[in-house]
Amino acid sequence: MTLARWRALSPAKKAAHDLARAATHANLPLLGTPMSRQVDRLLSARIRQNAFKARPATRAGVMVSGGGYQGKTETVCEIAATFEDSWRELHRTNPETVPGTRDAWVPVAYVQTPVTAKPKSTCKAILDFYGTPTKRMDLPELVAQVAASLTDHGTKVLILDDITRLRMHRADDQDTLDLIRAFMSMHVTLVLVGVDIPGSGLMDEGRPTANNERRRPVNGWEPTQTERRFDLVELDRFRYDTPEQTTAWTCHLAGVEDHLRLLKARPGMLTDGTMPEYLYARTDGVVGLLERLIEDGCTEAITCGTERLTEPLLDNLPLTLADAAGRDAQAGEIPAVPAARPAARTARRRNTVFDDHGPQAGTA
Ligand SMILES: Nc1ncnc2c1ncn2[C@@H]1O[C@H](COP(=O)(O)OP(=O)(O)O)[C@@H](O)[C@H]1O
Ligand SMILES: [Mg+2]
Repeated sequence: MTLARWRALSPAKKAAHDLARAATHANLPLLGTPMSRQVDRLLSARIRQNAFKARPATRAGVMVSGGGYQGKTETVCEIAATFEDSWRELHRTNPETVPGTRDAWVPVAYVQTPVTAKPKSTCKAILDFYGTPTKRMDLPELVAQVAASLTDHGTKVLILDDITRLRMHRADDQDTLDLIRAFMSMHVTLVLVGVDIPGSGLMDEGRPTANNERRRPVNGWEPTQTERRFDLVELDRFRYDTPEQTTAWTCHLAGVEDHLRLLKARPGMLTDGTMPEYLYARTDGVVGLLERLIEDGCTEAITCGTERLTEPLLDNLPLTLADAAGRDAQAGEIPAVPAARPAARTARRRNTVFDDHGPQAGTA
């Protein structure tokens, strides 16, 4: 739609068109990034290999770690959904179905860890996903019911999102360790997603406790086995140091730009001149923050009629995440938002050391 054609529309048609544009900007697509492709490679392969395993051996799990708003949830769900589609395509019906019954078939289970979670509430959250009643069950019963629900629904992948909410500050909280261990032997690919998993204590079991004793093996498990049975993959933010990194960021911006519906946008609106640098300074290369800024910018550009994104327009839009519903700030799920323009701008000014300023006075 060109500006001239839009102007020729009736007021009602204009309103309808603007509504469609607003809906487009509110639903910007998930774009593949070098970081998400790395997670995809590892996670897809692990899920598929595990899904085909028939022996009751413990399946290797995957831990996906990264800061808030970097796209962990979206990326992992997209990968799991792709697996679910292909698994359903392959089998048509639940391969473990019982003849003569109609089973609910759920190849992938996604559960968000409750805020200030404890082992019991984590189990309950999983059982809620299946709609299983949990009244008056103690922890061992809950764990057994989780195992039964996973098997009965033919679940191959269990995603526990925001797992770093699970209280792990007491490194020797035996319930937490027992829970993770129990999950690991449930014959699913366990995908643990969280903020800074290596620093969270989730993998610390093998290390000596505060009073320097090594924890005893429980049920024949060596304490270090948790660590060895998970692949850890980091979903990083974009970086802006090497030429490859700046190119990747600019490519991502080009991908975003393709989906914007602003009437006076020119090609290269987000990728030319100082715009990539500016957007990086505003968002620190965090995809979720970028999406937020662009979305707010588009709303503003349509409202005030500029119909294009410019640095001055974006300058007037503070990025605030205070209203981030469903996020636990204490678990690091809300990232620090870079400071507003002046600091961000001067910090990333072009390096002028090697500039030729012409002959100095007196040398000519
Ligand atoms: N690869 C991507 N391309 C575009 N937008 C993305 C991408 N990954 C995430 N987003 C957006 O960023 C926001 C935060 O993503 P989310 O998965 O919730 O982050 P996290 O779980 O790491 O906190 C979401 O609104 C999502 O749509
Ligand atoms: Mg998330």
